[in-house]
Amino acid sequence: MVRRFIRFVLCLVGIVALGGAAFYFVTAPNPLPESHWANLGAPDVKNGETVFWAGGCVGCHAAPGSEGDAKLTLSGGLALKSPFGTFHVPNVSPDEKAGIGSWTLAEFGNAMKRGIAPGGQHLYPSFPYGSYTRMSDKDVNDLFGYIKTLPKSDKVAPPHQLPFPYDIRLALGGWKLLYFNDAPRIVLANADDKLKRGRYLVEGPGHCGECHTPRDALGGFEPDMWLAGAPNPEGRGRIPNITPGSKDISSWSEADITNYLETGFTPDFDTAGGSMAEVQRSLAHLPKSDLEAIAAYLKAVPSR
Ligand code: HEC
Ligand code: HEC
Repeated sequence: MVRRFIRFVLCLVGIVALGGAAFYFVTAPNPLPESHWANLGAPDVKNGETVFWAGGCVGCHAAPGSEGDAKLTLSGGLALKSPFGTFHVPNVSPDEKAGIGSWTLAEFGNAMKRGIAPGGQHLYPSFPYGSYTRMSDKDVNDLFGYIKTLPKSDKVAPPHQLPFPYDIRLALGGWKLLYFNDAPRIVLANADDKLKRGRYLVEGPGHCGECHTPRDALGGFEPDMWLAGAPNPEGRGRIPNITPGSKDISSWSEADITNYLETGFTPDFDTAGGSMAEVQRSLAHLPKSDLEAIAAYLKAVPSR
């Protein structure tokens, strides 16, 4: 009787261990090899600056409350509340100790496009690499070059405050398995160069869907709801639906959308508020042709 029970328990332990090993095998961090990043050459820092503003890095990585040029010091420290706990945004200034000054391009590239830290751990998708994974290698290289020109900061952000089980980075492999890929978000027939550029900016560096697309209980995007609007994580109101059929912006022309992204003014002279205010201030640094491309894409996505 006892022997049978022990055998049963051993068997169970075996199954759990095998299951765990299989889970680890399928979900282990999978960085792009060093060679992938080897031949990109000297970065184009001017283009890197455009990518930087398209990516809205200051919105999260600047010190909370900083204004003007102080925002270019990416010292981190902002507390980002989420349904899974509070994240403290890290320092990504070029400081060798506190920031990413000693990182290689491969390490930076794998953080941006694979969500993997230099130590090989999974990063949390509160860092929107689920969008940044769609960035071109050239843009990642140029962005890294630009960030190295910014001021250093030796500030260290406090650790994240996440309750169990969200504090286990290994488990993020399961999230990635379910939701992480670099496939296009929607089908776009006959896209010309402008529309392709708009798609790239919105689905990639611009990470618009991270706020404008509703999520399920595990934090993945709901299928077929691309840019359809979502509850506001800041608590009040909703983040608008920005697909063409939505009552939020269906009356806006392409030029109205471009003007909003450039100036922050809606067609009825309201101003961009909430978290969009910071996003808009970053987007205002982009060439007008890029804002027009984003507007063209927002007019071309399926209505939801
Ligand atoms: C919505 C907020 C947000 C935005 C926007 C954002 N980040 Fe982050 N970033 C984070 C958070 C939160 C982390 C920490 C993730 C973790 O600990 O797993 C992070 C981590 C990182 C890391 C890894 C740092 C480390 O020490 O492991 C790098 C590199 C990084 N971000 C660069 C950028 C760049 C470059 C941009 C702009 C293109 C950017 N981030 C935009 C929130 C953001
Ligand atoms: C950090 C979250 C966040 C991100 C990222 C974001 N938005 Fe927004 N967006 C908002 C919020 C919140 C509003 C509502 C602003 C308000 O109430 O004034 C908004 C409003 C808008 C509006 C106006 C809609 C209306 O009905 O007023 C447009 C257009 C828009 N966003 C486009 C974009 C585009 C394009 C991107 C990507 C380049 C983007 N947003 C990225 C949060 C975000």
